[in-house]
Amino acid sequence: MKKKNKKGFIDVVVGLQWGDEGKGKNIDELLSSKIYSGVARFQGGANAGHTIKSGKITFIGHIIPSGCLQKNIELYIGNGVVVDIISLIKEISELKKLGLNVIPRLYLSNRAKLVSYLHPFLDQAEEYFRSKGGDKVGTTGRGIGPAYSDIRARRGLLIGDILSSDFKQKEASLAKFHMNLLKMYEREYGFKIPTEKITEARIKWLETINQIKKLKICDLSFLIQKRLSEGKNILAEGAQAVMLDIDFGDYPNVTSSNTLPANVCLGLGMPHTTVRNVYGVIKAYTTKVGGGSFPARIKDEKMEKLFQDAGHEFGATTGRPRMCGWLDLFALRYAIKLSGANKIFINKADICQANKIKVVTGYREAKKNLKEFPLYLNQVTSVITEEISGWGNANYGVKDKKKVSRELASYLKYIKNKLSDFNIKIISVGTGPDREHSFGWDK
Ligand code: IMP
Repeated sequence: MKKKNKKGFIDVVVGLQWGDEGKGKNIDELLSSKIYSGVARFQGGANAGHTIKSGKITFIGHIIPSGCLQKNIELYIGNGVVVDIISLIKEISELKKLGLNVIPRLYLSNRAKLVSYLHPFLDQAEEYFRSKGGDKVGTTGRGIGPAYSDIRARRGLLIGDILSSDFKQKEASLAKFHMNLLKMYEREYGFKIPTEKITEARIKWLETINQIKKLKICDLSFLIQKRLSEGKNILAEGAQAVMLDIDFGDYPNVTSSNTLPANVCLGLGMPHTTVRNVYGVIKAYTTKVGGGSFPARIKDEKMEKLFQDAGHEFGATTGRPRMCGWLDLFALRYAIKLSGANKIFINKADICQANKIKVVTGYREAKKNLKEFPLYLNQVTSVITEEISGWGNANYGVKDKKKVSRELASYLKYIKNKLSDFNIKIISVGTGPDREHSFGWDK
């Protein structure tokens, strides 16, 4: 009788804060364990910015999965992703210059969504409109919201459409609709994109479509199911983070996709039974970029700037400075409950620019301590904090648990204790940007 292969599984990496937790490094770390044969993006688009360092190579990717620097890993872009084809082709060619031809191992779902050349302009127009009525979301300007809106309204384009004979008509009809929207924004709100800019973007986009046709466009759900039946395991790479989830974040200051691990199944076309571990990623402090309230923000501007500079807290996609805050355990507990994270990575534990640091343990609305995470973060009028000793620069580059400073060790124990009801393991603590700058904590 033929021996049956043991079925493979999917593990997920998800940010547990507001994004920019340094997931790219942890994904790279997990992939080097040789447990996985592929890495898959399941949501978001080129709004992500993943910095990966390997030896002398530093690569910043926005749309290509983070396993790109590892030669034998298959790279998947799932149906839940809105694909910015210009970024994708640019990243493929940047990797080629680094000596990595990813084309043979890159697979795009035919059901993934296409970001059109007009989506970023519509993104700008929508932000302009919002700024008139109150607050901007502070989007990355990559056309994410408009691309997902088109899909929900069933007028969007799929990657597979590129190969169909009526692509030109479909594209022209969507472009006409978008141009009408842009005319409305100009007529009603005075927001105008110069015609030359649109023409230039269109030419570049159509040229890029031809390059995309040469990539492997396939039924990715089928391919990943096949890999699992061959006994291979896949790592699903979350972009953004739980606190930016469209349903569970601080709406409307969120991204337009579900960032939660629950979306791995829908964004790749997999049954929920295939998902095993959820790796959550946090930084030892918190950052946030874009609009909306940020209760844990460091109030002392000078102190915030110290964290911003030491942590290089400037967006990899937009270059915007990130607001810096203390570790927010109240938000973290909410994110763990929603994501089911059972193992966590703590990044940037070498960054601690204060003798005394704070940790947010609760939120208050007026004088009332909140028991549950609020619907709107602007309901929060103050935060409850606890003070802990800082560790300055003492832990940069530490690779051995035994060499960790006393203060950082007690900080890690403190976090573990505050999360003890979740039975979570701190599997690795980052102390610098390189792959080897980390140490294991829990066994
Ligand atoms: P969008 O995803 O570009 O529509 O932006 C919506 C919100 O999500 C904004 O507040 C962005 O700053 C935020 N955002 C989107 N992608 C990232 C990311 O990769 N890191 C951090 N924030 C992000």
